[in-house]
Amino acid sequence: MQHPRTSFLVRLAIAAAAVAGALLLASCSGTPADTHPGQPVTKRKQAFKLMLRSFEPMGLVVRGRKEYDPQKFLDYATDLQQLADKPWQYFTPDSDYPPTRAKAAVWQQPERFRAARQKLADSLSHLTVVAKNGNLDAIRPVFAEVEKSCQSCHREFRGGLL
Ligand code: HEC
Repeated sequence: MQHPRTSFLVRLAIAAAAVAGALLLASCSGTPADTHPGQPVTKRKQAFKLMLRSFEPMGLVVRGRKEYDPQKFLDYATDLQQLADKPWQYFTPDSDYPPTRAKAAVWQQPERFRAARQKLADSLSHLTVVAKNGNLDAIRPVFAEVEKSCQSCHREFRGGLL
């Protein structure tokens, strides 16, 4: 049996791969691209995928599946902190269109959505501080907080399987 947190990571990776596959299929079959002004759905999905690229290797390190290199880990944490500012500007008022998986609650409950963003930002500030000390045992619980921030926002604001 898999640890639930591991399976969250794995499912996120699978979801991102599935989206990449679907985009590829769409481009091959000539399905129209995102024609909305500014392409907000496309841009926020890309921004989330970039976040995943820093998030994922840290998850592997924390679980002992990848070697802990303190400097690299700190770089990932710092990158993720910066990348985690990016998606929100693309949740514009008229950007609830397919293939988004954002729930209507994003627009109906902006205060709660903002609070969920803040929770992620706070946990990431904490992570970069603790990552500077280079102690993996101290990092683990803080990384778990980050992961919880992703997961709880997805549960509330993202539809589908995650
Ligand atoms: C404040 C809410 C919130 C937080 C926090 C959050 N996400 Fe998301 N995430 C969303 C929403 C909403 C979507 C759906 C976007 C869409 O389909 O338009 C999403 C989508 C994604 C996707 C799929 C992108 C795609 O290609 O469809 C990935 C990957 C992702 N998030 C990773 C993360 C990671 C990793 C974290 C934590 C480090 C995180 N998210 C934190 C709200 C959040």
